[in-house]
Amino acid sequence: MKKLKVGIIGFGSWGECHLEAYRALPFIEVAAVCDAQPARRARARELGVPVVCETAEELLREADIGLVSVITFEKAHLQPVLAALEAGKHVLVEKPVATDAAEAAQMLAAAKRHGRFVAPGHLLRFEPKYAEVRRLIAEGALGRPASIYMKRSRNHSLFGTYRRTHTVYELMIHDLDQAIWYAGSRVKRVTAEGCTLSGGDVPEILWVQLRFENGMLAVLHSNWMTHDAAGVVINDYTEVVGSEGTVQFDTDLAGVHLLGIRGRASTDLSVHHRQGGRIVGALKEQLAYIGECALNGTSPDVVSFEDAIHGIEVADAIVRSARSGEPVELGGQAALDPNGQGAR
Ligand SMILES: NC(=O)c1ccc[n+]([C@@H]2O[C@H](COP(=O)([O-])OP(=O)(O)OC[C@H]3O[C@@H](n4cnc5c(N)ncnc54)[C@H](O)[C@@H]3O)[C@@H](O)[C@H]2O)c1
Repeated sequence: MKKLKVGIIGFGSWGECHLEAYRALPFIEVAAVCDAQPARRARARELGVPVVCETAEELLREADIGLVSVITFEKAHLQPVLAALEAGKHVLVEKPVATDAAEAAQMLAAAKRHGRFVAPGHLLRFEPKYAEVRRLIAEGALGRPASIYMKRSRNHSLFGTYRRTHTVYELMIHDLDQAIWYAGSRVKRVTAEGCTLSGGDVPEILWVQLRFENGMLAVLHSNWMTHDAAGVVINDYTEVVGSEGTVQFDTDLAGVHLLGIRGRASTDLSVHHRQGGRIVGALKEQLAYIGECALNGTSPDVVSFEDAIHGIEVADAIVRSARSGEPVELGGQAALDPNGQGAR
């Protein structure tokens, strides 16, 4: 079997999930990992990664690597993405692809210049429930889609780490990508309000209203307010309303719940989960698809970097609107794909 060699830049908690998911795919071999922290490099050695190094430059000298996952801190994606593309590698960059739309546009321009792809790590496009909503919209089951509501709630303890990035880039970016995918249109107006309970600039609770160019509406709500003692890790909701039907699902109700003597513990099976020796979830599905594209030299069209850039433009506008309390109008077509693969 022809094998694809993969490198991982940034080996924190999510980098370790990438390693597990890649290793569950028989046609992929993780050849090298790099991380700036000695403890994380020690962890990669413990897990048997053949080449473990400190910098992206060292990793990118491994000539036979064809695909690189960039999983560094949210604000530190640009340099490793540009270096990997320049070294001739295809790139999967984790969400948020950037925390500034101009940086995201630089990534796509570099990919085009070097004849490689840069794919955004928007794994919900590979999660069956989210993808089913898109399929139903596309086949007309809802008639004319008119509005989207999406909620994303995460454990409060995670806010301790992820308050390093604004909630819109850390959490809501998933729903922005889904909403742009479902609407098939660019956003023209954003209104946002945030709420900070523990002080600081980053809202623990964020409400956003979007008006799309095609007339659709979306309301997105992200928060870090699920208390850990509640025993729920993923507590999300999606609903799309159209002229002839509504499609909806609730991730919490679809999970597996242990009601035990220490309370409730819910297991999420949709993103990344170890079951015995097997890995299940959307991360593995996403890596299988991106890996096949890298191996076969095809374009990863299920995801769209043009949509990802637009998602960051909308996120930037959300930060401005939440700070000013005023609606923000977005400009025209600038960053979108002229071939129509992105939102239309
Ligand atoms: N798709 C998802 O559902 C999902 C889930 C979790 C995290 N993420 C994303 O993955 C990224 C990483 O998140 P995390 O939770 O693993 O963070 P983390 O803090 O656990 O890990 C980041 C790692 O990157 C390393 N690093 C940073 N800059 C580096 C550089 N220039 N060179 C080498 N190593 C470097 C750090 O030392 C650290 O070990 C973020 O963008 C985050 O939003 C995505």
